[in-house]
Amino acid sequence: MTKQVKMPKAARKTSIRAAITGVHGYVPPDVLTNAELARLVDTSDAWIVERTGIKERHILKGKGLGTSHMGAEAVRGLLKKTGTAPADVDLLICATTTPDFVFPSTANLICDMTDIRGIGSFDVQAACSGFVYALTIAAQFIETGAHRKIVVVGADKMSAIIDYTDRATCVLFGDGAGAVLLEPNRKYGIIDTLISSDGAGMKHLHQKAGGSRMPPTAETVAKRLHYVHQEGAAVYKYAVARMADVATELMKRNHLTADMIDWLVPHQANNRIIEATAERMGLPPERVMVTIHKYGNTTAGTIPLCLWDYEGKLRTGDRLILAAFGGGFTWGGVYLTWAYDGPSPRSESRAE
Ligand code: ACO
Repeated sequence: MTKQVKMPKAARKTSIRAAITGVHGYVPPDVLTNAELARLVDTSDAWIVERTGIKERHILKGKGLGTSHMGAEAVRGLLKKTGTAPADVDLLICATTTPDFVFPSTANLICDMTDIRGIGSFDVQAACSGFVYALTIAAQFIETGAHRKIVVVGADKMSAIIDYTDRATCVLFGDGAGAVLLEPNRKYGIIDTLISSDGAGMKHLHQKAGGSRMPPTAETVAKRLHYVHQEGAAVYKYAVARMADVATELMKRNHLTADMIDWLVPHQANNRIIEATAERMGLPPERVMVTIHKYGNTTAGTIPLCLWDYEGKLRTGDRLILAAFGGGFTWGGVYLTWAYDGPSPRSESRAE
């Protein structure tokens, strides 16, 4: 595993920025509490809260409902609240690790379900860093002038690949989706992005069977190889280091001091990782978005769900740093300025 993190020098030389002009989210109605998990495996509410910060998570139930169902709900809400007609969307990218099918892509399915037709749509797979990767890709299409209204979705039905007999993983994950609209803006938007990976991390976090290396058979199913395999302590070590590396590198190369940053929007895998990242950045807790207590780790969904929850608190010009780490290993970050005043928390935002 490489020790040194290579940080691409990517300060943008563009007069047009890709700005987030709307955000919406969806979590399914069924809630799985720590107390319910303690009836399934040898764990306790106290252990889960102390070690992760998670109190409950939402689970998608219902026959035939996959990740696309949640992604489509988020996109429908996004189009409605931003007054965007499906015909005006000119690209849709979906970050997911739990696609409905190997093919077609979940992005294709979401387009069909939301009546968005005749445009490019594709999935991005970078585990928990997927939304940051997708946002980075989408920004290029706006900056070149090739596209004007891009929907970026982060959605995962983690309950589909979680072993509810494995206490080390089943307490961590939940289901959910978030979506943002990206549009050109001359003043606000994405200023810098950073993505990176190290495939040697595979041994610590992966799904053993179900892909082309080990296609599904009766034996792989019997051996429970279609579930997330995570060596938590090993992953934790890398996650803490890389999340903070990403955030502080973005600060350094954009000449940002802690007092200049309004919000850290961290991937929600473990509250201790979030706190360590904020600490290395010098940020107080009140400037860190946290939703892990109620949604758990929704993989590609966590960052857009945070933006959705906190939308009512965001103001035009706010400086945000997004940071993520996940399977691969993958990691990445985005520095952006927010482009609009969030709606009243009572009407739209779910911020507490
Ligand atoms: N309840 C009670 N005890 C538990 C549970 C549980 N749910 N899970 C594990 N334990 C036990 C272990 O068996 C171990 O017991 P032992 O000491 O007797 O062997 C003990 O608790 C400590 O286990 P650790 O794994 O060392 O616990 P840790 O404090 O590291 O917390 C956790 C585990 C929460 C998984 C943490 O390691 C973590 O957050 N890792 C990083 C997760 C992450 O960032 N993943 C990347 C994104 S996910 C993706 O990309 C799909």
